[in-house]
Amino acid sequence: QILIIDFGSQYTQLIARRVRELNVYCEIHPYNNIPEISENVKGVIFSGSPCSVRDEDSPRIPIEKFRGKLPVLGVCYGAQLLAFSEGGFVTPSENREYGRANLSKVNSLNPLFDGVDIDSQVWMSHGDTIKDLPDSFEIIASTRSVNVAAYHVKDEDTYGIQFHPEVTHSTDGKTILRNFIVNICDCSQDWTPAHFIDETVEQLKEQLGNDKVVLGLSGGVDSSVAAMLIHEAIGKNLHCIFVDNGLLRKHEYEDVLESYKHMGLNVKGVDAKELFYDELKGKTDPEAKRKAIGKVFIDVFDTEAHKIQDVKWLAQGTIYPDVIESVSVKGPSATIKSHHNVGGLPEKMNLKVVEPLNSLFKDEVRKVGSALGLDEAILNRHPFPGPGLAIRILGDVTPEKVHVLQEVDYIFIQGLKTANLYNQVWQAGAVLLPINSVGVMGDERTYERVVALRAVTSVDGMTADWCHLPYEFLAEISNTIINKVKGVNRVVYDISSKPPATIEWE
Ligand code: XMP
Repeated sequence: QILIIDFGSQYTQLIARRVRELNVYCEIHPYNNIPEISENVKGVIFSGSPCSVRDEDSPRIPIEKFRGKLPVLGVCYGAQLLAFSEGGFVTPSENREYGRANLSKVNSLNPLFDGVDIDSQVWMSHGDTIKDLPDSFEIIASTRSVNVAAYHVKDEDTYGIQFHPEVTHSTDGKTILRNFIVNICDCSQDWTPAHFIDETVEQLKEQLGNDKVVLGLSGGVDSSVAAMLIHEAIGKNLHCIFVDNGLLRKHEYEDVLESYKHMGLNVKGVDAKELFYDELKGKTDPEAKRKAIGKVFIDVFDTEAHKIQDVKWLAQGTIYPDVIESVSVKGPSATIKSHHNVGGLPEKMNLKVVEPLNSLFKDEVRKVGSALGLDEAILNRHPFPGPGLAIRILGDVTPEKVHVLQEVDYIFIQGLKTANLYNQVWQAGAVLLPINSVGVMGDERTYERVVALRAVTSVDGMTADWCHLPYEFLAEISNTIINKVKGVNRVVYDISSKPPATIEWE
């Protein structure tokens, strides 16, 4: 495997993605909490950082632990740190060095640059630049404005790159990373979904033995894939619970429950709609609504789980980005919305926790799901928030409002599917606004509800663009909604991107 040491760059996760795309396993660890180096580690990558090596309190590590012992690749800050720590001279850049640049000189005999075009485009993003290299370091690539675009330490497998090979704008970035990982580190490219499944199922068998495990299914990809993996390992000892909180999409509860049963999962559906509606009654503050939903969920789940005799484990579909975020050097970022719906569940239940997906990225979870034969409908489903339609009903939630929104949402989502637009959109849904507006239907004046449609494109939900859906499509959906859903006389389309807006309205 490859060890990636995180100095806080916005691109660190991208490095990991690129390594995994080469079918090589890797882990990210923050610079201030590096694990013992196991013999499986074949090479190390130092990430970039928002800091400057010239600052005394910028992140440092004991470089001698790695250099000369394992192949090392420093990227941006990582490259500067390697040079600086051996007496190289790093200064603030004179020229703006952000964005695209082209290499002007390349030593293509160097193994790191094998197969890289002489004038290859690269992505720069740095405030400091390496002016002078230590004696044993030799330049292996330059651009017109950055002399030290890449270097190699003589007689050592130590390299530094000033630009970002992990960003797709670096057109030969993948080649460079492949050269390092496959040729220089000699990693075998056997990290595939099938390999992951075999290995994980074996581990789960050993870890869980004859114990019983409880897992909350949500209808989403992560909990479904986690359930399938554990089911492969321990069969009927896995007890799944699927809670109807009354805030799901139209037909969702029945459809999803059916497909879980079809997959052979031991799943119990729990209709807890009324409990959720009761707790939500009169609550208008978004955070209060989220908390109410989280609390009822934990109560319901806990009660159901305790009906299973001798249950020892709680399984969760936690994925890698959740894990990395919590140890990142960036520190906890401000809570914009409290997303962790069921935080507190493990503590309350006093069970051991098993998280078979906690080393995977979302797209890898999908690949594993596909290899396990998971239903297309679940595999490619848009993300849906845990608190469900409650955070798309602005203001207080009532069963009647849920019903109206379910109908609107259904028309929109079915419309996207029929028009073959569903898979081009990252997430879509409808929002019920707490205002009425005047309209005219036939000869009559109406004073009815307004709904907003929201559709975005995104990679990971952290940033998003509003989706430029065809006008004709929007016109047809708007017509259908107003004609079919009683109580709605106006449809608007949300054209805000994130940031500064968020995807959900609450
Ligand atoms: P925002 O609104 O923050 O949403 O731009 C980003 C992504 O997160 C989802 N989301 C939630 N998911 N519990 C969840 O499980 C929540 O409370 C929650 N709030 C937002 C949202 O649907 C989008 O995919």
